[in-house]
Amino acid sequence: ATHTIVTIAGSLRKESFSLKIANALAKLAPASLKLEVVTPHGISNFSQDEEAAPPADWLALREKLQKSHGVLFVTPEYNRSIPGVLKNVIDVASRPYGKSSFMGKPVGIISNSPGPLGGVNAAKHLQNILPGIAGPIMGQPETYLNGVGDAFDDKGHLIKESLQKVLQQYIDAFAAFVEKQNR
Ligand code: FNR
Repeated sequence: ATHTIVTIAGSLRKESFSLKIANALAKLAPASLKLEVVTPHGISNFSQDEEAAPPADWLALREKLQKSHGVLFVTPEYNRSIPGVLKNVIDVASRPYGKSSFMGKPVGIISNSPGPLGGVNAAKHLQNILPGIAGPIMGQPETYLNGVGDAFDDKGHLIKESLQKVLQQYIDAFAAFVEKQNR
């Protein structure tokens, strides 16, 4: 069976490494996995005042997640955490209270940075945020991608072999995890 995975790249930047990694994963994914790559573009700021009559963009995001078989986060690290725009996406999807659109969905987390630490702090923060509102988080392989600044050519194609290998291993493991969780 084909499983659809909402793949959330946590950056608004046009040349975002997170987005390029998400797109590379979509190409490397086995046939059983269809990655739908989304970004925080177009998701209105969360406010409890809007919850009675939610904006259309919230409803569309929630529906997309509810129809999916899993969620994959590809996050950068901003100031030792996840970007605010990614947190907003999570807050929107987590509501209404008790009806999170992530509920029951298997979760994958990949962090990245052009720097040496691979955005590990952002990944760890996601591991704190998600357990109450999502399904099981895949523990291994832990994937914090450092030095991603030279991984893509100017057309956005992945040219760094070592990164391609790590991404392939990750997405194959995630496919197996999703398969098991959706059985
Ligand atoms: C950063 N960056 C960064 N990198 C890192 O490894 N740890 C960090 O704490 C931060 N903090 C941080 C804060 C802010 C406000 C910005 C704008 C940037 C650098 C960051 O990794 C780099 O800009 C990435 O390219 C951002 O991800 P995308 O947009 O390429 O996906």
